[in-house]
Amino acid sequence: MTDSATSPGFLAATRAFYDAVAEDYAATFRDSYAGRPLDRALLRAYAELVGPGRPVADLGCGPGEVTALLASLGLDVYGLDLSPAMVEIARREHPGLRFEQGSMLELPLPDGALAGVVSWYSSIHTPVDRLPALFREYRRVLTPGGHLLLAFQAGDHPRRHDQPWGHPVALDFLRRDPEHMAALLTDAGFTLTSRTVREPDENLGEPVPQAFLFATAR
Ligand SMILES: C[S@@+](CC[C@H](N)C(=O)[O-])C[C@H]1O[C@@H](n2cnc3c(N)ncnc32)[C@H](O)[C@@H]1O
Repeated sequence: MTDSATSPGFLAATRAFYDAVAEDYAATFRDSYAGRPLDRALLRAYAELVGPGRPVADLGCGPGEVTALLASLGLDVYGLDLSPAMVEIARREHPGLRFEQGSMLELPLPDGALAGVVSWYSSIHTPVDRLPALFREYRRVLTPGGHLLLAFQAGDHPRRHDQPWGHPVALDFLRRDPEHMAALLTDAGFTLTSRTVREPDENLGEPVPQAFLFATAR
């Protein structure tokens, strides 16, 4: 594992990376859910589990594609992201929705404020020794019975993205063992309700399987 994922500066490194690539990232993934029926099905199931009009945070929302999809499914959802550039794009592209800048490791929310937390490929830059604190923070802001949806790449070895789209930045994308993540969620006060691992989709350029965990706050 490399410095950007293990040093205390991992948040600064993550923010700098996404600030640099935000416009290219947003252009690449704009409307990409049209071509991802299985992922959409999981997000639809999640919206149904949480229930219409219930408050949900999409933590690490990037340009807000999933936030907008969840809003279209009836959730009262807002997005939060570490990267100011990502937040600016999300606000520009989804003007009817709320987006805030901040870290999901320290949420400015009272205990039990939310019925749902979505972490869609956003825990992938949090070093493994910080995951227990991250999951406790997700648990803290959920009401008992509230729903977490956690998406990440499955695997053992990080993938380093160096100079993406020609920008002079680099960051590790950490892959995880779904069973280990499930155990950490259980330790943080969640009950696992579903574990899905789908095969990599070559059309999306995915090199490894994709994992989706559903859990409820105990
Ligand atoms: C791979 S992108 C995923 C973005 C979006 N969820 C999507 O699927 O398109 C990871 C995002 O998580 C955000 N992120 C990473 N760590 C974060 C943290 N501690 N707090 C808030 N956002 C974070 C990054 O800034 C980035 O926008």
